[in-house]
Amino acid sequence: MEKEYEEIKKKLKKYGQEHLESFYEALEGKDKELFLEQLKGIDFELIDSLYKNTKKDVGIKENVKIEPIDFMDKSKLSGDYKYYEDIGEKAIRAGKLAAVTMAGGQGTRLGHNGPKGTYDIGLDSHKSLFELLCDPLKQASKKYGVNIPWFIMTSKENNKQTIEFFKENKYFGYEKNIYFFIQGQLPMIDTEGKILVGENGFIKEAADGHGGVYESLVKSGMIKKMRELGIEWIFIGGVDNCLVKMVDPVLMGIAIDKKVSLAAKSVVKANPHEKVGAFCKKNGRPNVIEYSEITDDMAEAADKNGELLYGESHILCNLFNIDAVERMGSDPLPYHIAFKKATYIDKDGNKVVPTSPNAYKFEAFLFDAFGELDDMAVLRVKREEEFAPVKNAEGTDSPETARKLYNDFYKL
Ligand code: UTP
Repeated sequence: MEKEYEEIKKKLKKYGQEHLESFYEALEGKDKELFLEQLKGIDFELIDSLYKNTKKDVGIKENVKIEPIDFMDKSKLSGDYKYYEDIGEKAIRAGKLAAVTMAGGQGTRLGHNGPKGTYDIGLDSHKSLFELLCDPLKQASKKYGVNIPWFIMTSKENNKQTIEFFKENKYFGYEKNIYFFIQGQLPMIDTEGKILVGENGFIKEAADGHGGVYESLVKSGMIKKMRELGIEWIFIGGVDNCLVKMVDPVLMGIAIDKKVSLAAKSVVKANPHEKVGAFCKKNGRPNVIEYSEITDDMAEAADKNGELLYGESHILCNLFNIDAVERMGSDPLPYHIAFKKATYIDKDGNKVVPTSPNAYKFEAFLFDAFGELDDMAVLRVKREEEFAPVKNAEGTDSPETARKLYNDFYKL
């Protein structure tokens, strides 16, 4: 262990992280080993370059050509609806679909004390978000006569609590089909680039964003598991949309018929300036343009029918071909920088609770991988049928709005 530590010390010196030595040296026994394991797992070169990026202006790049992307409207498919549905249903019945729920986020805006999926949005049934997602999965499994496996991505921070919650709730009767896997994480750093130590005395790490899903599906062996199960298509969605339709034969039929690696759902923006990302083409390839990147003119531009050119919002409802996920899982994505409040222990051993953001967190975004795909299909669906997100404690996209959408949809 001492030899390993000597090696690490060289790295700490090289990257200006020597302050971590005193934290390590103050620990004993198992804790010391754990701290060393953490240090060994850090890619200091990467952290150093990410810190340097925090000093750069990362606006929209001038040589990027943004264009609208074609989409299909689920409510206007008429005769084709049944055609796609039949193709998709056949594949689902043949056991080719798996569902992935990304539940590793921190849910800071909601402010719930626990994993977001355990949140009760206040329905009469008091079902948690996890149960609201599991219900339609169970129904679909029954309807199509097949077990649709459900892979749940947690973070190191919430994995234990998530699994305990499922155990307490007897896995909602779906135990044999549920698999958990943990996403990656990265250390948080202060404004000087120093890696932070958290209240527990260990390196302060945070989940690496929903874009971490591809890499962790591969690294955790879940892709291998899926292949053993005969899976060809993977629906990847968030934990916080209580109307998410993880099993949709029409979406699946479109993906298969159009031979695309990704079929994604969209809803029309509530207004041109809604703070959501919109599907587009960047340099001829499928992508998502964020609201912070789009000019007012572009946001308001419409076609001759009055439809917004950049009006299809990305709602984290994406069906991927398994080969594409595996490919994307081996190529690292860029990290975006978030400036957050993070409680930490300073070099004198004092706990510091900041009142304003003090630390950088690095996150990969799922849609940054879309540019690697040759093509994708976008399917517009109705907000009131498929999109009821729980993001904020109050106001828009809150438990109250999600509850209403859920009750209206199920006519409760
Ligand atoms: P959001 O971007 O809305 O983040 O995640 P969040 O963590 O739920 O909430 P805030 O921003 O802290 O308030 C969208 C989906 O991606 C998952 C979330 O769990 C949610 O289902 N996610 C996000 C992850 O699984 N891991 C991450 O690192 C980030």
